[in-house]
Amino acid sequence: MKRPVLIAVSLILWAQGSWGAEISTPRRAELLNLLKHDCGSCHGLSLKGGLGPALTPDYLVGKPIDFLVATILYGRPGTPMPPWRPFLSDPEAFWLAEQIKAGVR
Ligand code: HEC
Repeated sequence: MKRPVLIAVSLILWAQGSWGAEISTPRRAELLNLLKHDCGSCHGLSLKGGLGPALTPDYLVGKPIDFLVATILYGRPGTPMPPWRPFLSDPEAFWLAEQIKAGVR
């Protein structure tokens, strides 16, 4: 991840008072499960695309992490991409964005 982007996102999350909230190991497992099944229902079980675009490192190259985090939290109005803010905290959305960028699933 590019350092200035990381710093910018950290500052935003810190300003909202949510940065540093640790994501527990069981919660990580839940998030990966969500990624596979809920996100996977549109983005493909292996995240190679479906109704929604692929969420693979190749495809996401050059897309800033804060842009991905914003898309996850707020969705894309006018498209089927829903907002996940009711279900995910800011650090959780950030963590998920890091996972898809890194190709973990
Ligand atoms: C109901 C279907 C649906 C579900 C469920 C869904 N998405 Fe999406 N998602 C979409 C669509 C469609 C787009 C493309 C929106 C557009 O046209 O810009 C998208 C776009 C995205 C993008 C932006 C990709 C890019 O290239 O800009 C990300 C990141 C993303 N979704 C992550 C997720 C994650 C993470 C989840 C689960 C927490 C999820 N999505 C669940 C349909 C879905």
